[in-house]
Amino acid sequence: MFVPGLIERKRDGGALTPGEWRDLVGAYHTGAVPDYQMAALLMAVFLRGMTREETAALLDAMVDSGRRLDLGHLGLPVVDKHSTGGVGDKVSLVLAPLAAACGLAVPMMSGRGLGHTGGTLDKLESIPGFRTGLSLDETMAQMAKLGVAMIGQTPEIAPVDKRLYAMRDVTATVECIPLIACSIMSKKLAEGLTGLVLDVKQGSGAFITDAAKSLELAQTMIRLGEDRGCPTVALLTAMDRPLGRACGNALEAEEAIMALRGEGPEDLMEETVAEAVEMVVLGRTNASAHRGTGAPAHGGTDAPTHRRTDVADRAAVEKEVRAALSSGRAAEKFQQMVEAQGGNPAVLEDPSVLPQAKEVEVYCAPRGGTVLRVEPRTIGRAVVEMGGGRTKSDDAVDPTVGFVITARPGQTVHASEPLASIFAKDAAGIALGRRALDLAVEIGDGKAEMLPLIAARVTAGGVEMLG
Ligand code: URA
Repeated sequence: MFVPGLIERKRDGGALTPGEWRDLVGAYHTGAVPDYQMAALLMAVFLRGMTREETAALLDAMVDSGRRLDLGHLGLPVVDKHSTGGVGDKVSLVLAPLAAACGLAVPMMSGRGLGHTGGTLDKLESIPGFRTGLSLDETMAQMAKLGVAMIGQTPEIAPVDKRLYAMRDVTATVECIPLIACSIMSKKLAEGLTGLVLDVKQGSGAFITDAAKSLELAQTMIRLGEDRGCPTVALLTAMDRPLGRACGNALEAEEAIMALRGEGPEDLMEETVAEAVEMVVLGRTNASAHRGTGAPAHGGTDAPTHRRTDVADRAAVEKEVRAALSSGRAAEKFQQMVEAQGGNPAVLEDPSVLPQAKEVEVYCAPRGGTVLRVEPRTIGRAVVEMGGGRTKSDDAVDPTVGFVITARPGQTVHASEPLASIFAKDAAGIALGRRALDLAVEIGDGKAEMLPLIAARVTAGGVEMLG
């Protein structure tokens, strides 16, 4: 294999064959292809795109670079969710234990912060002691006991994605539909799922900002999943403002804990419940269609499984999901998971065990009027610059920094009214946060334009507009 020739072909708009992709990914995995060649190839892909055949070949090679989880013996629907990434998106922290409390097996494998977006692993690791680096055997044991584990890519699972993901983060090659699709789907397909729910973000804070392109991303992933026997559904959700109020690792962990207690901000609760309903419906539909029902082995609910899901079924599932929150079962599941993964379980009752920022400042409205915009990308970048994300792949993150932004687009505010709090490690961080809020929070006299929180539900069968 002559790698410069492959890079050149891609650079000039050609396609690599499935065999070339397989060999290239294999050689990258063993170290025979160095990072600098892969970085050049990623940039060529970013600029030239990939054919369907290439995307499928890259995905298969990435999945085959590692092992696959097999949780069939649990007798449960194995369903996961993945978000394409946003600012303030802490849904996964609430959703994984919630779905497990509803009787699903959820082996959630997530990533770290990428570009201006936060990562589920960084948020979880802000909980003192929490280990996301479980081995495959540890993950299997925890799944049998609790029905939920939240982990990073183990060296055994899609190991090539782990390296590509870190490299894309620092080579400006993140915002690329086939690369995002392969990255997400390689992790998910290696989990041996019976169903997958995707949260595809749209708006200025998403990697793919354009609505038509986010639909294309959703459809690309759905096709890759369905073609490999994994029923896949996507929700297109708003990322033209941060989700919830907290942006920054420990702050988001705290807000997720509030949501597990049913006390999270409205948008976070609505999106989490909608995704949980999709997961439960998908899991049960698929389980009953393919494998018959299975009694939860880990103390989940004993709700019946469904062959077809009509509107009444969905309403019943939503009730069940909300009951799992209000009864405390989802919170209890989270606490068990935190403890099992080495974290301090007291965090559920006492979020002050989370690391705290040294400096906090309240940010007030510079004028009265309507909040026209809270621009998420500016906020996400500021969190990274304040130390809450990475600019080099081996950077350590400061879990304490970030924002709690109470101002929402559409809200009327008075001059000097508190709109946000800035959390930083020093005065320079506070100043940086203040500048970011000056840019991100626009107050004026017009009307705020917002994307619907959940714009559409996309399946292999088509697009259902919701918002
Ligand atoms: N999430 C991932 O896992 N990969 C991406 O490329 C983007 C978001």
